[in-house]
Amino acid sequence: MLAGKHILLIIGGGIAAFKSLDLIRRLRERGAEVTPVITRAGQEFVTPLSASSLSANKVYTELFDLTDEAEMGHIELSRAADLVVVAPATTDLLGKMAGGLANDLASTLLMATDKRVLVAPAMNVRMWEHPACQRNVETLKADGVLFVGPTDGAMACGEFGPGRMSEPLEIVAAVEAALMDGPLKGKHVLVTSGPTHEPIDPVRYIANRSSGAQGTALARALSALGADVTFVTGPADVPPPEGVNVVKVQSAAQMLDAVQSALPADAAVFAAAVADWRVASASSSKIKKDQKGGLPVLEFAENPDILATISQMKKGRPGLVVGFAAETDDVIANAAAKRKRKGCDWIVANDVSPETGIMGGSENAVTLISETGADEWPRMGKDDVARQLATRIADAIGEGA
Ligand code: C5P
Repeated sequence: MLAGKHILLIIGGGIAAFKSLDLIRRLRERGAEVTPVITRAGQEFVTPLSASSLSANKVYTELFDLTDEAEMGHIELSRAADLVVVAPATTDLLGKMAGGLANDLASTLLMATDKRVLVAPAMNVRMWEHPACQRNVETLKADGVLFVGPTDGAMACGEFGPGRMSEPLEIVAAVEAALMDGPLKGKHVLVTSGPTHEPIDPVRYIANRSSGAQGTALARALSALGADVTFVTGPADVPPPEGVNVVKVQSAAQMLDAVQSALPADAAVFAAAVADWRVASASSSKIKKDQKGGLPVLEFAENPDILATISQMKKGRPGLVVGFAAETDDVIANAAAKRKRKGCDWIVANDVSPETGIMGGSENAVTLISETGADEWPRMGKDDVARQLATRIADAIGEGA
């Protein structure tokens, strides 16, 4: 719910601007007050009259409007909101924000605000992928600007790829996460998820069947409790959640690097199914089918154990480290031994014997093992497991813990 929350919605000039009218409705349905600001280019796509009717509020368009300044100055306008949302955020707006330009009302408000800013980029795929745009995105992320999307898909210009603005309800979810005053507000939580891909040569790799569903659900649940989540994911089947900082990796070595660079964290949850081994010397060129010497022989090397490495850090260890243990025999005993061996605080143990249908399924039956004992949870959906675990994490490290 967004009751009593005030959103300043900056509508940029892109075809996705029509979705921003629906966004106004969706935000208001949840009790938010919306003040629209439409850039000059935005007004080519949606009219101030539509935005004003849907928001039941005055719409602002010009920087040098004496009537507006007399009613509410632009500085005040930028501060009165709880959150500033830019949707669609065009490449031009992102560039202005990253460069600190303030030559119209929207960019001036973005420079003057003391509130968090959430952007929903929308642009042609080539523009999104352009190094200049990606540089600006990195700069803005480093400045603490929140991103929702863009998503992949067919675009109005006929091309396909990342650049579509997120759907209004996804933006609403990101707004809720950004405004959430949950027990994990101000806490940085790191989550690993998905499988890893270990290269054999440039075109082949070794992988496992992890879908990334449990890790993704967990990142979403932690974010919903207000945590600032860094989500380090291997190539998963399910898309990453909105409103979290996503770091995509392929191999275990890259995952360890990404985890170490994301520290410090208040808690770290290792839900990834990391490959135990990699090919010792992956070939830099494609291994030929008819190579001399017959069939290739792969030699393996052990991958770093990310959970153990972080658990055993002497300095800067996250306050709470949680691992997973997928077992088929003596689940509790093996998982309890694993907790000690790796040095983590909690282990979430589950039985992945084929007859349980848990691996790849939508349900999970877990036992939470800590220093004080084993707590067996009933079988439930992976989303429910995620919410319950996020609540336990909040009890351990959150406000008032
Ligand atoms: O040893 P095992 O793979 O069963 O341990 C599972 C736990 O350890 C999971 O939390 C998994 O994310 C983590 N792990 C890791 N790095 C590895 C192997 C496992 O972080 N190389």
